[in-house]
Amino acid sequence: MLYGVFSDIHSNCEALERVLEFFKSAGAQAYLCCGDLVGYGPNPNECLEILRNLPRLSIVCGNHDLAAAGRMDPGWFNAYAREAISWTRQELSPESLRYLSSLRPRLDGPEWTLAHGTPRKPADEYFLSTLQYKQSLGLVKTWPLFVGHSHMPLCFKSAPDGEAEMSMLEEGQEVRLARRGAAAVFNPGSVGQPRDHDPRACCALYDSSAGSFRVVRLSYDVAAVQAKIRRAGLPEFLAQRLELGR
Ligand SMILES: [Fe+2]
Repeated sequence: MLYGVFSDIHSNCEALERVLEFFKSAGAQAYLCCGDLVGYGPNPNECLEILRNLPRLSIVCGNHDLAAAGRMDPGWFNAYAREAISWTRQELSPESLRYLSSLRPRLDGPEWTLAHGTPRKPADEYFLSTLQYKQSLGLVKTWPLFVGHSHMPLCFKSAPDGEAEMSMLEEGQEVRLARRGAAAVFNPGSVGQPRDHDPRACCALYDSSAGSFRVVRLSYDVAAVQAKIRRAGLPEFLAQRLELGR
C-alpha cells in the first residue's frame, strides 16, 4: 500500500491542496495524518472540509486541535499560538467543531501507529530523542510509528549494532525498514508551517510493501497565505515565519 503521510497543516489551505495534489499524482492509495489540522493559519474550516471528504484517511488530532475544540487548556501555548487559537475558536463551524471533537491523539492501525507527539503522551510531548525512541519500543504494537508536532522531517530507528539512531531527513532521501514491521519512527515534517528553514510544504510517501519512507518538498503560494493571515488580523509573526520556514 502506498500512503501519503502528512502532518501539522495548521489551517494552511494552499499548502494542503498542493500536498494532496502531489499525493494523487504519485498514486497514493491511502492517507495518514498526524494532527494539528488547525491553529496559526487563516483557513481552519476550509482545511477541515477537505480532510473530512478525503477518502481512506486515517487521522489523529494534535494539541492545537484539542485546544481549538475546548478539550485542552491553551494556557501553556506561546502568545502567538494562544491568539490564533482564540481566533480559530470563533471561526469554527459546527461541522468543523464536531469533526475536531471526534478525533483522538493516537491511533493504532493494522500496519502502523499514529500519534501526534509520543506514544506515551500523544497529545503534546515532542518526539525528539533516541531515549524516547527506546522508551517507545514497549509502547507500540504495530510499526512504523508516524508522529508530527515538531514540524521537522525526522527518523528514529535501530542501527545494526542495536543502538538507536536519529536523523533529519532531506528532500528525496529514502529510508528503508530493516524488515517488514520493524520498529522505526517517522515524522513527515509540516505541511503548513515548516520549521527546518525550508519554507516549502513538507510531506512523505510510505510504501508499506517495500518498507520505504521518502520525504517530499513542494512549493506553494506562501504570499497568498500571508495576505490572508494579515487580513484576518492574526499576529504578523505568523505571516513572516512562513517565508522563513521557522
Ligand atoms: Fe503543530
